[in-house]
Amino acid sequence: SVLATMEGRTELALTLEKVLGIPRVVVVVGDSDGEQWVKDTLGFQAANELRNLLCEGDVVAVTGGSTMATVAKMMPQGKALPVRVVPARGGLGESTSIQANTIAEQLATVMGGSYSVLHVPDRLSEETLKRLTDEPMVQERLAEIRQATVVVHGIGGALQMAERRALSHDEYLMLEEQGAVAEAFGYYFNQQGQTVHSMTTVGLKLADLNRMRFVMGVAGGTSKAPAIASVAKAYRIDLLVTDEGAARAILNHV
Ligand code: BG6
Repeated sequence: SVLATMEGRTELALTLEKVLGIPRVVVVVGDSDGEQWVKDTLGFQAANELRNLLCEGDVVAVTGGSTMATVAKMMPQGKALPVRVVPARGGLGESTSIQANTIAEQLATVMGGSYSVLHVPDRLSEETLKRLTDEPMVQERLAEIRQATVVVHGIGGALQMAERRALSHDEYLMLEEQGAVAEAFGYYFNQQGQTVHSMTTVGLKLADLNRMRFVMGVAGGTSKAPAIASVAKAYRIDLLVTDEGAARAILNHV
């Protein structure tokens, strides 16, 4: 029955909270690996959680990715919320529709807030990157990003992300060799949650998360189980919105 499934999912969430050490976990029905409607439900649930936790004046940093794009797509229009939405980091090699800049703009627009973008291309030389970040305008944006009060982010499999971002063959091999299983914010982590690689762009640093009021992660699908388990060890997450597919796979492997 529907009730039994619901109770089953509450159980799942409570068990996951303990196993992952995350104060609050929400589990939606289904497995987003297989079906788009599950990803939409995941996005809708995350969008509602986000709206409820935001306060006037919050600065929300968001990452890119197809999951975060779904959060923006599913965010319901409601009472205008005067928050500011910013991209968490500069260019990470994503296509335009799932870039953090795009998602920040979409979220701010539907919530009735404001947004700013950070135009830092991918694969800049260190020298060019430094010159760019010395620009007063970029400095201003970076300060705003690093002082965000809330962050909402996607979590990906390390090798899947390396492939999607067209990392070089050498980088890919290095990630494999280092046992990278997860990626978030442009950082790659091994099973123990240790950082094994990070992309050369600007914006949020992992240490900035400690200062934030709220850190929210959104990721589902059986295939993301190792990635979710890894990031839970890597940094603080206050709320994880996931699906049954990922939840069951995580619990089967511990
Ligand atoms: C990226 C984020 O854009 O999307 C990462 O920077 C995240 O933090 C990734 O790992 C997840 O992508 P998707 O498409 O699986 O939601």
